[in-house]
Amino acid sequence: MSLSYDLMERARKVIPGGVNSSVRKIEPSFGWKTAKGSYMWDMDGNKYVDLNAAWAACILGHRHDEVDDAVIAAIKDCDLIGLGTTTYEVELAEKIVENFPCAERALFSTCGSEATYHAIRLARSATGRSKIIKFQGGYHGWHDYVLRNTYNKKETMYTRDLGSSGMLSSAVDETLICRFNDLEDVESKIKANPGEIAAIITEPVAYNLGGVRLQDEFLRGLRKLCDENGILLIFDEVITGLRVGMHGYQGICGVTPDLCTIGKAIGNTYPIAVTAGKAKYMDMFNTAEKGTVAYGGTFNGGPFVMAACLKTMEVLERENVHQYLFDLGDYLRNGMNEIFKQQGYEAEMTGYGSISIPVFGKGPFNCQDDLHEADMKTAVAFRKGLVKRGYYIVPADVKRLCLMYSHTKEDIDGLFQVAEDTLKEMKK
Ligand SMILES: Cc1ncc(COP(=O)(O)O)c(C=O)c1O
Repeated sequence: MSLSYDLMERARKVIPGGVNSSVRKIEPSFGWKTAKGSYMWDMDGNKYVDLNAAWAACILGHRHDEVDDAVIAAIKDCDLIGLGTTTYEVELAEKIVENFPCAERALFSTCGSEATYHAIRLARSATGRSKIIKFQGGYHGWHDYVLRNTYNKKETMYTRDLGSSGMLSSAVDETLICRFNDLEDVESKIKANPGEIAAIITEPVAYNLGGVRLQDEFLRGLRKLCDENGILLIFDEVITGLRVGMHGYQGICGVTPDLCTIGKAIGNTYPIAVTAGKAKYMDMFNTAEKGTVAYGGTFNGGPFVMAACLKTMEVLERENVHQYLFDLGDYLRNGMNEIFKQQGYEAEMTGYGSISIPVFGKGPFNCQDDLHEADMKTAVAFRKGLVKRGYYIVPADVKRLCLMYSHTKEDIDGLFQVAEDTLKEMKK
């Protein structure tokens, strides 16, 4: 058939389903050969403009020379992990503390799911309470604390949807579900569970849910409710962290959480996550002398990953990358919205900064209830049309389209052309 198909077939014999994460199962699946800058090539040599950007983990572009050189230098310098500390770890922690308003301390792990797990366990220990609140459609990783009510059909929103078999029933029931941008809902859940809620966890921009923006008033309201009720506010900035600016979304909205998690872009595809926050909480981890909250991980703070993060942060700051990405994101959204209008589609390119989401429906989109009113079938057909024409955006529902520093205006002009062609074809 093709080399791509052959590789997938070979993979399926030894890797369940042929892929290492269930979100990679989306058809059409590819065997990939390589990527550089904004482009990636499948096993058959077909070139794609990458609009997935490693699910937002790549911000500068693939195989960024400066980052890779820093990684190689670190590998040649020191491969020590697991004992004491290295300069690399200290420098990166200093950078986090310098930049993120809530961060007086930082701890490293290897993926975002670990970071949210640690933050929640810490909040439980700090408050002596067990329940947490997350939002319908919010994603914070694969563990039992947060997986419920993430990917829901309209009929199953707000039901007791586990998200995975094998989950601990008790863990599921300790996680309460609220509606995004609905402060009254949060308030009533807190009232119904007096003195029982340890933390509220949310992405400050719901990039996992159609880019739903959490209104400033809502974020301020969450802060106030947390303060009044002894609840810790956790901003999951695994995506927003280093993607929206040097200080996270907390630096933009002016609401300071108690704890935050940072991941993805900070490592420009190298495996990293950060749990950071106020010292009085962070010092409760048992890495500190009197701490009792377990914190471990053989690969935490490994030199070459730290080097990748340090260099990525240096380039982001030096080259004012965020401004470039915000401008390019606006250019993309404005252009696409014009094309939707010209072609007679009721659709909107939602999003913020470098991340956009095509939604076939009428906004505003404030929560998953609103997104479920949109036409997902048309959205998937549109996405498949782009993939067919060499612009890779995950061909499913409201998954994000993500820009990198390596993308150019010409790449986006090319997207406009293939989008127009696709929309015309869809009418036939
Ligand atoms: C907001 C958010 N939190 C946590 C995670 C989990 O991160 P990881 O996939 O690195 O475990 C993700 C992953 O997409 C995410 O988007």
